[in-house]
Amino acid sequence: MMRGKHIVIGVTGGIAAYKAVYLVRQLQEAGAEVRVTMTEAATRFVAGNTFAALTRHDVPVHIFPDNPTGISTNWTQHIHWGEWADLMVIAPCTANSLAKIVHGFSDSMLTTTVLAARCPVLICPTMDGEMYRAPSTRYNLNKAEELGYHLLTPDHGYLASGMEGVGRLPDTDVIIDRMIQILEVAPSRRVSGEKVTPTLREVLTGKKMLVTCGPTREYLDPVRFLSNPSTGKMGMAMAAAAAAHGAEVTLLHSDSVSTTALSPSIRKLAFTTTEDLFRQVKTHAGCDIIIMTAAVSDFRPVQTHSQKVKKAEADLNVVLERTPDILKWLGEHRKNGQVLIGFAMETRDLLKQAREKRIRKGADWIVANDLAADGSGFAFDTNQVVLVGAHSEVHFEGTKYDVSRNVLHHIFAPQPPL
Ligand code: CTP
Repeated sequence: MMRGKHIVIGVTGGIAAYKAVYLVRQLQEAGAEVRVTMTEAATRFVAGNTFAALTRHDVPVHIFPDNPTGISTNWTQHIHWGEWADLMVIAPCTANSLAKIVHGFSDSMLTTTVLAARCPVLICPTMDGEMYRAPSTRYNLNKAEELGYHLLTPDHGYLASGMEGVGRLPDTDVIIDRMIQILEVAPSRRVSGEKVTPTLREVLTGKKMLVTCGPTREYLDPVRFLSNPSTGKMGMAMAAAAAAHGAEVTLLHSDSVSTTALSPSIRKLAFTTTEDLFRQVKTHAGCDIIIMTAAVSDFRPVQTHSQKVKKAEADLNVVLERTPDILKWLGEHRKNGQVLIGFAMETRDLLKQAREKRIRKGADWIVANDLAADGSGFAFDTNQVVLVGAHSEVHFEGTKYDVSRNVLHHIFAPQPPL
Protein backbone atom coordinates (compact mmCIF):
# COMPACT_ATOMS: atom_id res chain seq x y z
CA MET A 1 0.00 0.00 0.00
CA MET A 2 2.86 2.40 0.78
CA ARG A 3 4.88 1.60 -2.35
CA GLY A 4 5.42 4.77 -4.37
CA LYS A 5 3.27 6.89 -2.05
CA HIS A 6 4.37 10.46 -1.37
CA ILE A 7 4.33 11.13 2.36
CA VAL A 8 5.08 14.43 4.09
CA ILE A 9 5.90 14.03 7.78
CA GLY A 10 5.53 17.17 9.90
CA VAL A 11 7.54 16.96 13.12
CA THR A 12 6.70 19.34 15.97
CA GLY A 13 8.52 20.12 19.20
CA GLY A 14 7.83 17.31 21.63
CA ILE A 15 10.03 14.68 23.20
CA ALA A 16 8.47 12.05 20.90
CA ALA A 17 10.09 13.82 17.90
CA TYR A 18 12.79 11.13 17.94
CA LYS A 19 10.15 8.52 17.11
CA ALA A 20 9.53 10.33 13.81
CA VAL A 21 13.01 9.15 12.75
CA TYR A 22 11.85 5.53 13.04
CA LEU A 23 8.60 6.39 11.30
CA VAL A 24 10.50 7.80 8.32
CA ARG A 25 12.73 4.70 8.15
CA GLN A 26 9.82 2.32 8.34
CA LEU A 27 7.87 4.17 5.65
CA GLN A 28 10.89 4.12 3.37
CA GLU A 29 11.33 0.40 3.95
CA ALA A 30 7.67 -0.03 2.96
CA GLY A 31 8.43 1.74 -0.35
CA ALA A 32 7.14 5.25 0.37
CA GLU A 33 8.89 8.43 -0.70
CA VAL A 34 9.16 10.63 2.38
CA ARG A 35 9.84 14.31 2.98
CA VAL A 36 10.03 15.98 6.35
CA THR A 37 9.26 19.46 7.58
CA MET A 38 9.92 20.48 11.18
CA THR A 39 8.92 23.32 13.43
CA GLU A 40 11.71 25.28 15.00
CA ALA A 41 10.88 23.74 18.39
CA ALA A 42 11.25 20.25 16.90
CA THR A 43 14.85 21.04 15.91
CA ARG A 44 15.64 21.32 19.64
CA PHE A 45 14.81 17.65 20.03
CA VAL A 46 16.14 16.14 16.78
CA ALA A 47 18.54 17.74 14.30
CA GLY A 48 17.15 18.48 10.84
CA ASN A 49 20.27 16.82 9.43
CA THR A 50 19.05 13.46 10.69
CA PHE A 51 15.94 13.70 8.54
CA ALA A 52 17.84 15.30 5.65
CA ALA A 53 20.28 12.39 5.58
CA LEU A 54 17.49 9.82 5.69
CA THR A 55 15.24 11.48 3.10
CA ARG A 56 18.07 12.92 0.97
CA HIS A 57 16.00 16.06 0.82
CA ASP A 58 15.91 19.50 2.40
CA VAL A 59 14.10 19.65 5.71
CA PRO A 60 12.47 23.08 5.62
CA VAL A 61 11.53 24.86 8.82
CA HIS A 62 10.59 28.35 7.65
CA ILE A 63 8.39 29.37 4.75
CA PHE A 64 11.09 31.64 3.44
CA PRO A 65 14.22 29.86 2.27
CA ASP A 66 16.72 29.11 5.01
CA ASN A 67 19.65 30.79 3.26
CA PRO A 68 21.43 33.98 4.28
CA THR A 69 20.47 36.04 1.22
CA GLY A 70 16.80 35.10 1.42
CA ILE A 71 16.77 35.27 -2.37
CA SER A 72 15.52 32.09 -3.92
CA THR A 73 12.85 30.79 -6.25
CA ASN A 74 12.07 28.17 -3.66
CA TRP A 75 9.62 30.21 -1.62
CA THR A 76 6.53 28.39 -2.89
CA GLN A 77 7.83 25.06 -1.64
CA HIS A 78 4.83 24.62 0.67
CA ILE A 79 2.49 24.72 -2.36
CA HIS A 80 4.56 22.12 -4.21
CA TRP A 81 4.73 19.85 -1.19
CA GLY A 82 1.00 20.26 -0.63
CA GLU A 83 0.39 19.09 -4.20
CA TRP A 84 3.04 16.39 -4.12
CA ALA A 85 1.83 14.59 -0.99
CA ASP A 86 -0.64 11.67 -0.98
CA LEU A 87 -0.80 11.94 2.79
CA MET A 88 0.57 14.35 5.37
CA VAL A 89 1.19 13.12 8.92
CA ILE A 90 1.90 15.40 11.87
CA ALA A 91 3.77 13.15 14.32
CA PRO A 92 4.22 14.12 17.04
CA CYS A 93 1.75 17.02 17.08
CA THR A 94 2.07 19.26 20.12
CA ALA A 95 -0.86 21.16 21.65
CA ASN A 96 0.64 24.35 20.21
CA SER A 97 0.85 23.03 16.64
CA LEU A 98 -2.63 21.49 16.94
CA ALA A 99 -4.01 24.90 17.94
CA LYS A 100 -2.24 26.57 15.02
CA ILE A 101 -3.50 24.01 12.51
CA VAL A 102 -7.09 24.27 13.75
CA HIS A 103 -7.01 28.06 13.51
CA GLY A 104 -5.34 28.20 10.10
CA PHE A 105 -1.99 29.67 11.13
CA SER A 106 0.69 29.73 8.46
CA ASP A 107 3.75 30.76 10.45
CA SER A 108 6.06 27.88 9.51
CA MET A 109 6.67 25.55 6.61
CA LEU A 110 4.76 22.87 8.51
CA THR A 111 1.56 24.82 9.24
CA THR A 112 1.60 26.43 5.78
CA THR A 113 1.97 23.05 4.07
CA VAL A 114 -1.02 21.75 6.07
CA LEU A 115 -3.02 24.68 4.66
CA ALA A 116 -1.81 23.99 1.15
CA ALA A 117 -2.28 20.22 1.35
CA ARG A 118 -4.67 18.68 -1.15
CA CYS A 119 -4.38 15.29 0.50
CA PRO A 120 -5.73 13.88 3.78
CA VAL A 121 -3.87 15.04 6.89
CA LEU A 122 -3.38 12.75 9.90
CA ILE A 123 -2.70 14.48 13.22
CA CYS A 124 -1.08 12.46 16.04
CA PRO A 125 -1.59 14.59 19.18
CA THR A 126 1.16 13.92 21.70
CA MET A 127 1.50 15.72 24.99
CA ASP A 128 1.23 15.42 28.76
CA GLY A 129 -2.02 13.89 30.05
CA GLU A 130 -3.26 17.08 31.71
CA MET A 131 -2.53 19.09 28.55
CA TYR A 132 -4.42 16.50 26.52
CA ARG A 133 -7.41 16.82 28.85
CA ALA A 134 -7.32 20.64 28.94
CA PRO A 135 -10.59 22.17 27.69
CA SER A 136 -8.79 24.12 24.94
CA THR A 137 -7.08 20.96 23.63
CA ARG A 138 -10.41 19.08 23.69
CA TYR A 139 -11.95 21.97 21.79
CA ASN A 140 -9.15 21.95 19.22
CA LEU A 141 -9.36 18.17 18.79
CA ASN A 142 -13.11 18.37 18.15
CA LYS A 143 -12.60 21.25 15.78
CA ALA A 144 -9.83 19.40 13.92
CA GLU A 145 -12.15 16.47 13.41
CA GLU A 146 -14.97 18.72 12.25
CA LEU A 147 -12.62 20.32 9.75
CA GLY A 148 -11.91 16.91 8.23
CA TYR A 149 -8.49 16.16 9.70
CA HIS A 150 -7.86 12.58 10.77
CA LEU A 151 -6.85 12.08 14.41
CA LEU A 152 -4.93 9.25 16.03
CA THR A 153 -5.74 8.84 19.72
CA PRO A 154 -2.55 8.91 21.80
CA ASP A 155 -1.55 5.94 23.92
CA HIS A 156 -1.83 5.64 27.66
CA GLY A 157 1.41 5.01 29.53
CA TYR A 158 4.62 6.50 30.92
CA LEU A 159 4.99 10.17 29.94
CA ALA A 160 8.05 12.41 29.78
CA SER A 161 6.78 14.22 32.89
CA GLY A 162 7.40 11.00 34.80
CA MET A 163 3.66 10.56 35.27
CA GLU A 164 1.34 8.00 33.76
CA GLY A 165 -1.48 9.11 31.52
CA VAL A 166 -2.85 9.51 28.02
CA GLY A 167 -0.59 11.40 25.64
CA ARG A 168 2.11 9.11 24.24
CA LEU A 169 2.76 8.92 20.53
CA PRO A 170 1.53 5.44 19.48
CA ASP A 171 3.99 2.91 18.02
CA THR A 172 5.08 3.49 14.44
CA ASP A 173 3.19 0.31 13.42
CA VAL A 174 -0.03 1.81 14.75
CA ILE A 175 0.61 5.11 12.93
CA ILE A 176 1.34 3.28 9.67
CA ASP A 177 -1.77 1.07 10.02
CA ARG A 178 -3.87 4.20 10.34
CA MET A 179 -2.09 5.79 7.36
CA ILE A 180 -2.89 2.73 5.23
CA GLN A 181 -6.50 2.85 6.33
CA ILE A 182 -6.74 6.51 5.33
CA LEU A 183 -5.04 5.95 1.99
CA GLU A 184 -7.34 3.03 1.20
CA VAL A 185 -10.65 4.61 2.10
CA ALA A 186 -10.06 8.25 1.26
CA PRO A 187 -7.35 8.24 -1.39
CA SER A 188 -8.04 11.74 -2.69
CA ARG A 189 -10.77 13.11 -0.52
CA ARG A 190 -9.61 16.67 -0.49
CA VAL A 191 -8.57 16.70 -4.18
CA SER A 192 -11.92 15.67 -5.57
CA GLY A 193 -14.07 17.05 -2.78
CA GLU A 194 -15.96 13.73 -2.87
CA LYS A 195 -17.06 12.23 0.41
CA VAL A 196 -16.30 8.54 0.60
CA THR A 197 -18.32 8.01 3.79
CA PRO A 198 -20.42 10.59 5.64
CA THR A 199 -18.67 12.12 8.60
CA LEU A 200 -19.96 11.63 12.14
CA ARG A 201 -21.08 15.24 12.15
CA GLU A 202 -23.08 14.75 8.96
CA VAL A 203 -24.84 11.71 10.42
CA LEU A 204 -25.59 13.22 13.84
CA THR A 205 -26.55 16.75 12.81
CA GLY A 206 -30.23 17.31 13.58
CA LYS A 207 -30.63 13.90 15.25
CA LYS A 208 -32.47 13.88 18.58
CA MET A 209 -30.50 11.93 21.13
CA LEU A 210 -31.38 10.93 24.68
CA VAL A 211 -28.53 10.04 27.03
CA THR A 212 -29.05 8.89 30.64
CA CYS A 213 -26.29 9.01 33.23
CA GLY A 214 -25.45 8.49 36.87
CA PRO A 215 -26.92 6.34 39.62
CA THR A 216 -30.54 6.02 40.67
CA ARG A 217 -31.35 6.29 44.37
CA GLU A 218 -34.04 4.17 45.99
CA TYR A 219 -34.93 5.72 49.35
CA LEU A 220 -35.70 3.67 52.45
CA ASP A 221 -36.53 6.87 54.31
CA PRO A 222 -35.56 10.55 53.82
CA VAL A 223 -31.94 9.93 54.90
CA ARG A 224 -31.14 6.42 53.60
CA PHE A 225 -31.09 4.96 50.12
CA LEU A 226 -29.87 2.06 47.93
CA SER A 227 -27.57 3.17 45.14
CA ASN A 228 -24.21 2.44 43.44
CA PRO A 229 -20.85 4.21 42.93
CA SER A 230 -21.64 5.64 39.46
CA THR A 231 -20.46 9.25 38.98
CA GLY A 232 -22.12 9.87 35.60
CA LYS A 233 -18.75 10.65 33.91
CA MET A 234 -19.24 8.18 31.06
CA GLY A 235 -22.73 9.42 30.22
CA MET A 236 -21.63 13.05 30.39
CA ALA A 237 -18.69 12.27 28.07
CA MET A 238 -21.10 10.55 25.69
CA ALA A 239 -23.45 13.55 25.73
CA ALA A 240 -20.53 15.96 25.17
CA ALA A 241 -19.10 13.94 22.26
CA ALA A 242 -22.52 13.62 20.59
CA ALA A 243 -23.31 17.33 21.01
CA ALA A 244 -19.86 18.28 19.67
CA HIS A 245 -20.74 16.36 16.51
CA GLY A 246 -24.08 18.02 15.92
CA ALA A 247 -26.62 15.87 17.81
CA GLU A 248 -29.46 17.58 19.73
CA VAL A 249 -28.83 16.00 23.10
CA THR A 250 -31.15 15.68 26.10
CA LEU A 251 -29.30 14.36 29.15
CA LEU A 252 -31.26 12.73 31.95
CA HIS A 253 -28.84 12.81 34.85
CA SER A 254 -28.92 11.65 38.41
CA ASP A 255 -29.52 14.56 40.79
CA SER A 256 -26.30 13.49 42.53
CA VAL A 257 -24.29 14.40 39.41
CA SER A 258 -23.10 17.94 38.62
CA THR A 259 -23.41 18.79 34.93
CA THR A 260 -22.11 22.37 35.09
CA ALA A 261 -19.06 21.52 32.93
CA LEU A 262 -21.29 20.53 30.03
CA SER A 263 -22.17 22.77 27.10
CA PRO A 264 -25.36 24.84 27.50
CA SER A 265 -26.51 23.34 24.17
CA ILE A 266 -27.21 20.07 26.03
CA ARG A 267 -30.66 19.99 27.65
CA LYS A 268 -30.28 18.65 31.19
CA LEU A 269 -33.02 17.11 33.32
CA ALA A 270 -32.46 15.50 36.72
CA PHE A 271 -33.89 12.24 38.06
CA THR A 272 -33.74 10.54 41.45
CA THR A 273 -35.32 7.08 41.45
CA THR A 274 -35.64 4.40 38.77
CA GLU A 275 -39.36 5.14 38.55
CA ASP A 276 -38.59 8.83 38.06
CA LEU A 277 -36.02 8.01 35.34
CA PHE A 278 -38.46 5.60 33.67
CA ARG A 279 -41.19 8.25 33.53
CA GLN A 280 -38.82 10.78 31.92
CA VAL A 281 -37.40 8.23 29.48
CA LYS A 282 -40.93 7.42 28.31
CA THR A 283 -41.58 11.08 27.46
CA HIS A 284 -38.42 11.08 25.28
CA ALA A 285 -38.86 7.58 23.87
CA GLY A 286 -39.38 9.01 20.36
CA CYS A 287 -35.73 10.19 20.06
CA ASP A 288 -33.68 8.94 17.09
CA ILE A 289 -30.93 7.62 19.33
CA ILE A 290 -31.11 6.52 22.98
CA ILE A 291 -28.03 5.76 25.05
CA MET A 292 -28.72 4.20 28.45
CA THR A 293 -25.53 4.91 30.37
CA ALA A 294 -27.35 5.30 33.71
CA ALA A 295 -26.48 2.82 36.45
CA VAL A 296 -30.02 1.81 37.30
CA SER A 297 -30.79 0.09 40.58
CA ASP A 298 -32.35 -3.33 40.02
CA PHE A 299 -34.12 -3.36 43.39
CA ARG A 300 -36.02 -0.94 45.58
CA PRO A 301 -37.54 -1.27 49.06
CA VAL A 302 -41.18 -2.28 49.01
CA GLN A 303 -41.84 0.17 51.79
CA THR A 304 -40.52 3.74 51.90
CA HIS A 305 -40.90 5.67 55.14
CA SER A 306 -41.81 9.34 54.92
CA GLN A 307 -40.10 10.08 58.28
CA LYS A 308 -36.59 9.11 59.32
CA VAL A 309 -36.65 5.64 60.89
CA LYS A 310 -35.11 5.78 64.35
CA LYS A 311 -32.54 3.05 64.82
CA ALA A 312 -34.09 1.79 68.01
CA GLU A 313 -37.35 1.18 66.14
CA ALA A 314 -35.91 -0.14 62.85
CA ASP A 315 -36.90 -3.49 61.42
CA LEU A 316 -33.52 -4.89 60.27
CA ASN A 317 -35.06 -6.88 57.44
CA VAL A 318 -35.73 -4.77 54.38
CA VAL A 319 -38.00 -6.31 51.76
CA LEU A 320 -37.01 -5.45 48.20
CA GLU A 321 -38.80 -5.64 44.87
CA ARG A 322 -37.49 -5.45 41.30
CA THR A 323 -37.49 -2.11 39.50
CA PRO A 324 -38.69 -1.86 35.89
CA ASP A 325 -36.04 -2.69 33.25
CA ILE A 326 -36.07 0.55 31.28
CA LEU A 327 -33.78 -0.56 28.45
CA LYS A 328 -35.85 -3.71 27.94
CA TRP A 329 -39.00 -1.58 27.79
CA LEU A 330 -37.35 0.66 25.19
CA GLY A 331 -36.37 -2.42 23.16
CA GLU A 332 -40.00 -3.53 23.17
CA HIS A 333 -41.41 -0.09 22.28
CA ARG A 334 -38.86 1.26 19.85
CA LYS A 335 -39.86 3.46 16.94
CA ASN A 336 -38.73 2.64 13.42
CA GLY A 337 -35.10 3.35 12.69
CA GLN A 338 -34.31 4.23 16.31
CA VAL A 339 -30.84 3.24 17.49
CA LEU A 340 -30.77 1.84 21.00
CA ILE A 341 -27.48 1.59 22.91
CA GLY A 342 -27.12 0.07 26.36
CA PHE A 343 -24.22 -0.34 28.75
CA ALA A 344 -23.18 -3.37 30.77
CA MET A 345 -21.06 -3.35 33.87
CA GLU A 346 -19.57 -6.76 34.49
CA THR A 347 -16.98 -8.32 36.77
CA ARG A 348 -16.76 -11.65 34.87
CA ASP A 349 -17.64 -13.20 31.47
CA LEU A 350 -17.77 -9.69 29.97
CA LEU A 351 -18.44 -10.63 26.35
CA LYS A 352 -20.81 -13.50 27.07
CA GLN A 353 -22.92 -11.34 29.40
CA ALA A 354 -22.90 -8.38 27.01
CA ARG A 355 -23.96 -10.50 24.04
CA GLU A 356 -26.82 -12.03 26.03
CA LYS A 357 -27.83 -8.63 27.43
CA ARG A 358 -27.98 -7.08 23.94
CA ILE A 359 -30.41 -9.73 22.77
CA ARG A 360 -32.42 -9.98 25.99
CA LYS A 361 -33.01 -6.20 26.10
CA GLY A 362 -33.53 -5.73 22.35
CA ALA A 363 -30.68 -3.17 22.08
CA ASP A 364 -28.66 -2.63 18.89
CA TRP A 365 -25.41 -2.18 20.76
CA ILE A 366 -24.06 -2.83 24.24
CA VAL A 367 -21.01 -0.98 25.50
CA ALA A 368 -19.49 -3.59 27.81
CA ASN A 369 -17.48 -2.20 30.65
CA ASP A 370 -14.94 -4.44 32.33
CA LEU A 371 -14.80 -3.43 35.99
CA ALA A 372 -11.73 -5.62 36.49
CA ALA A 373 -9.61 -3.78 33.86
CA ASP A 374 -7.09 -1.09 34.85
CA GLY A 375 -8.43 2.49 34.89
CA SER A 376 -11.87 1.26 33.91
CA GLY A 377 -15.32 1.67 35.43
CA PHE A 378 -16.87 3.84 38.14
CA ALA A 379 -15.35 7.27 38.82
CA PHE A 380 -12.28 6.96 36.53
CA ASP A 381 -11.68 9.54 33.79
CA THR A 382 -10.57 6.68 31.53
CA ASN A 383 -12.32 3.53 30.44
CA GLN A 384 -11.83 0.21 28.65
CA VAL A 385 -14.86 -1.13 26.81
CA VAL A 386 -15.90 -3.61 24.17
CA LEU A 387 -18.65 -2.36 21.88
CA VAL A 388 -20.81 -5.37 21.13
CA GLY A 389 -23.11 -5.28 18.09
CA ALA A 390 -24.84 -7.90 15.97
CA HIS A 391 -21.97 -8.07 13.47
CA SER A 392 -18.97 -6.52 15.14
CA GLU A 393 -17.17 -6.36 18.47
CA VAL A 394 -14.49 -3.75 18.96
CA HIS A 395 -12.32 -2.73 21.89
CA PHE A 396 -11.78 0.94 22.80
CA GLU A 397 -9.77 2.48 25.60
CA GLY A 398 -8.68 5.98 26.57
CA THR A 399 -10.35 8.94 28.21
CA LYS A 400 -14.10 8.55 28.58
CA TYR A 401 -14.51 11.30 25.99
CA ASP A 402 -12.30 9.49 23.47
CA VAL A 403 -14.05 6.19 24.13
CA SER A 404 -17.41 7.93 23.56
CA ARG A 405 -16.25 9.51 20.32
CA ASN A 406 -14.87 6.20 19.06
CA VAL A 407 -18.08 4.38 19.98
CA LEU A 408 -20.15 6.99 18.11
CA HIS A 409 -17.80 6.79 15.13
CA HIS A 410 -18.01 3.03 14.97
CA ILE A 411 -21.80 2.98 15.16
CA PHE A 412 -22.70 5.98 13.00
CA ALA A 413 -19.77 6.67 10.66
CA PRO A 414 -17.82 3.43 10.31
CA GLN A 415 -14.96 3.29 7.84
CA PRO A 416 -15.61 0.78 5.03
CA PRO A 417 -13.67 -2.46 5.64
CA LEU A 418 -10.22 -2.65 4.04
N1 CTP B 1 -30.93 -0.88 32.84
C1 CTP B 1 -32.23 -0.40 32.77
N2 CTP B 1 -33.11 -0.68 33.77
C2 CTP B 1 -32.74 -1.43 34.83
C3 CTP B 1 -31.42 -1.95 34.92
C4 CTP B 1 -30.53 -1.65 33.90
O1 CTP B 1 -32.55 0.29 31.80
N3 CTP B 1 -33.62 -1.69 35.78
C5 CTP B 1 -30.02 -0.60 31.72
C6 CTP B 1 -28.75 0.12 32.09
O2 CTP B 1 -28.89 1.53 31.95
C7 CTP B 1 -27.75 -0.43 31.08
C8 CTP B 1 -28.25 -1.83 30.81
O3 CTP B 1 -29.62 -1.84 31.20
O4 CTP B 1 -27.80 0.27 29.86
C9 CTP B 1 -27.52 -2.94 31.54
O5 CTP B 1 -27.43 -2.65 32.90
P1 CTP B 1 -26.76 -3.70 33.89
O6 CTP B 1 -26.89 -3.16 35.29
O7 CTP B 1 -25.39 -4.07 33.41
O8 CTP B 1 -27.64 -4.98 33.66
P2 CTP B 1 -28.90 -5.54 34.41
O9 CTP B 1 -30.10 -5.38 33.56
O10 CTP B 1 -28.99 -4.92 35.76
O11 CTP B 1 -28.58 -7.10 34.49
P3 CTP B 1 -27.66 -7.93 35.53
O12 CTP B 1 -27.98 -7.41 36.91
O13 CTP B 1 -28.13 -9.31 35.33
O14 CTP B 1 -26.24 -7.70 35.11
